[in-house]
Amino acid sequence: MSETAHALGTTRTQLLDVIHVAGLAPSLHNTQPWRFHVTPDRLELWADRSRQLHVADPDGRELRIACGAALFNLRLALLGVGVRPLVSVVPDPDRPDLIAVVRRGGTRPASPQVKELLRAVPLRRTNRRPFADAEVATSARYELRRAAIEEGAWLDLVTDPDIRVELSGLAREAHDLQVSDPEFVAELDAWTGHVAERRDGVPARSGGPLPPPNSTWVFRDFTKGSGATGRIYEAEPLIGVLSVHGDGPRQDVRAGEALERVLLTATVHGLAASFLSQLVEVPGARDRVRQLTSGTRPPQVVMRIGHGWPVAATPRRPLDEILVEDRPQDRGSTERRSAELDPDAAQPPGPQREHPRRGSAGPHPMQPTP
Ligand SMILES: Cc1cc2nc3c(=O)[nH]c(=O)nc-3n(C[C@H](O)[C@H](O)[C@H](O)COP(=O)(O)O)c2cc1C
Repeated sequence: MSETAHALGTTRTQLLDVIHVAGLAPSLHNTQPWRFHVTPDRLELWADRSRQLHVADPDGRELRIACGAALFNLRLALLGVGVRPLVSVVPDPDRPDLIAVVRRGGTRPASPQVKELLRAVPLRRTNRRPFADAEVATSARYELRRAAIEEGAWLDLVTDPDIRVELSGLAREAHDLQVSDPEFVAELDAWTGHVAERRDGVPARSGGPLPPPNSTWVFRDFTKGSGATGRIYEAEPLIGVLSVHGDGPRQDVRAGEALERVLLTATVHGLAASFLSQLVEVPGARDRVRQLTSGTRPPQVVMRIGHGWPVAATPRRPLDEILVEDRPQDRGSTERRSAELDPDAAQPPGPQREHPRRGSAGPHPMQPTP
């Protein structure tokens, strides 16, 4: 066992598997905007700004949500090998791209719930295809909402018919606005709809067929126009709006952790999900979604949930692109590596400011499982 692996309390094989599992998280256009920096005493998760989508996501909010989802998988995977993770979320406000610092917090056997969620990680997929018209059971709705609550978030399931009509109209308006912007379309085209093999982005095969132009819900075209059109989608998808209290880097990361817990819980219950992100990317639409749902909390993610048929997995970048290791033989190069990871950092990462409560970015273990 190397020194680095020893500090986290895992073998090297386990460490690589933990990073692999983290990297299976969802991300906007499958940009996978994360890097993991392993040092002898901690594991750092950094946002990779070079992979930010500057048109769709100018503030990096969705980039941090993706990193939060990766952080949730990382926590799960560590618990899966019996390590209790102690997490500081965005520990340094001056370096918001340092998404999390994870340390070993002793040992804890993986609970049945952790094992179940962990098994769901490689099975979870964004499913853009039509779903069956079957309703999502009340018990599953309860579990989805509880998954969000366990991560300090809310999942509003929109059932009011009038609000649903307004939401679908808003989604169409926001979509039309986005696709009328040549820069938005160029960014979408650069990342999606390709047929050649790539390790990132959304391949054309993962884009769904498009619904008829007059259908209730409108979806992004991830096929560069090559997908079939006119396919009938389910009449009444379950629409979920995920939110947390407040706005800011920590809240975004928390939303990402909650998103992944909700998506994995959906997978456990045999449910599929896709996204309607135009509703939270276009500022006016986002504000209206807030008014229509919680009234106070800004919405972070809007999801469509239902009973789907299996779809193929999207690709992932190789581990050596997302993992930076500070091994004993590399001592002395830590400063350079840290500066590479944090373009704003003139200094290597200093001592972490830790706060007693997770709500204020302090270290937190994964919630005890019920
Ligand atoms: C914050 C966020 C926003 C997303 N928005 C959309 C969206 O609007 N439409 C969509 O089809 N997929 C959306 N996705 C899904 C990604 O495209 C998907 O996660 C990525 O392609 C990887 O595929 P996978 O989820 O199947 O692993 C979003 C994902 C995240 C994390």
